[in-house]
Amino acid sequence: MTENILVTGGAGFIGSNFVLDWIAAGLGPVVNLDALTYAGNPENLATLEGDPAYTFVHGNICDAALVERLLAEYRPRAVVHFAAESHVDRSIVGPEAFLKTNIDGTFTLLRAARSYYDGLVGEERERFRFLHVSTDEVYGTLTPEAPAFHEETPYAPNSPYAASKAASDHLVRAWVHTYGLPAVVTNCSNNYGPYQFPEKLIPLMISNALEGKGLPVYGDGKQVRDWLYVGDHASALRVVLERGRIGETYNVGGGNQRTNLEVVTTLCELLDELVPQSKFRPHQQLVKYVTDRPGHDRRYAIDARKLEGELGWRAQESFETGLRKTVEWYLANAAWVADVTSGAYQQWLTKNYAARTTLAAGEGAR
Ligand code: NAD
Ligand code: DAU
Repeated sequence: MTENILVTGGAGFIGSNFVLDWIAAGLGPVVNLDALTYAGNPENLATLEGDPAYTFVHGNICDAALVERLLAEYRPRAVVHFAAESHVDRSIVGPEAFLKTNIDGTFTLLRAARSYYDGLVGEERERFRFLHVSTDEVYGTLTPEAPAFHEETPYAPNSPYAASKAASDHLVRAWVHTYGLPAVVTNCSNNYGPYQFPEKLIPLMISNALEGKGLPVYGDGKQVRDWLYVGDHASALRVVLERGRIGETYNVGGGNQRTNLEVVTTLCELLDELVPQSKFRPHQQLVKYVTDRPGHDRRYAIDARKLEGELGWRAQESFETGLRKTVEWYLANAAWVADVTSGAYQQWLTKNYAARTTLAAGEGAR
């Protein structure tokens, strides 16, 4: 075994932040296996080009022979599994790719990791970990007064995306209990920060506002999400990888519950301040209420006390500091946004938003 880690999906939003932080901290070499779907962008990792600590492999996690070869060749001390189809709206329009990558892909990785692990002895065997990066959406939805999701909350996924991630979590659990694979699962709340694809709420609203386009709030905008800065997610994963107990689940969250409308309003205020010359100020005037997402989960909230108490993890960013950093990053990286939103992304916008009607004031309220 080497100091290598094998990361899947490292060219995506959270994966690229994780890889950049990992290499900057000098934690060892990274092999990044990524299929470069619309959500994967090698530009995110351009600063690592030529760095001996970084190897990029363009390939699919469903390719068993490739995964087996990479494990045999690089002999990693850990697999950190991010690769997934991750956007709920896309899973509603076309669930097939979600079942393929999130379920079959995870199965392929588990099977290969098991066989690799079975061949390890001594310290190499002691050290090996499979870290499965998952979501709080597996727990379903909360009423306004309900306590936050904890690790014992029963699974109740509501979207095809959430169901596919729940299935993958169950596969990991089974590989621990049946085959003794040393795996750990994390279930994290909504991330935001640099390199997030602009189909997701925060970067979509920033991009639209800068262009003077409508800010499409689904339904009444009172759905609650619990936001975490992506760098804090990356630090939680490092801690879980080093000290998390095998077979355990750790919930990751920042304790920042906000309604979507609050998030959009805060973004508009930040843009008013940071882009004083904008002809679209006040940006709040761009908000429009549109037809809701089918099956839309009303509220997510994470109880991260296990991770904090057992492993000593703490989020470093407040929602206010993290969101300001994020808006500043998008303002400074307009070329990145223009690059990832050209081409096929325009077709997705038509598919997802053209059929949504704009709701009259109060119409979205339940
Ligand atoms: P993302 O969509 O930005 O990136 C996914 C990456 O996986 C892309 O680089 C893509 O090219 C790659 N990929 C997709 N299918 C692949 C395949 N078959 N083989 C190899 N690579 C493939 O996703 P993200 O937001 O960075 O999420 C990463 C992980 O974290 C996912 O597993 C997601 O479920 C989980 N998660 C995300 C959030 C969030 O708020 N974004 C929160 C909790 C958990
Ligand atoms: O909770 C963790 C999950 O967070 C991750 O597992 C997913 O990969 C990630 O995409 C995210 O899922 P959400 O569905 O919560 O994220 P999204 O950014 O798509 O939407 C956030 C909220 O904003 C949600 O309530 C829907 C709403 N929304 C979203 C879009 C894109 C709008 O009101 N308008 C929009 O145009």
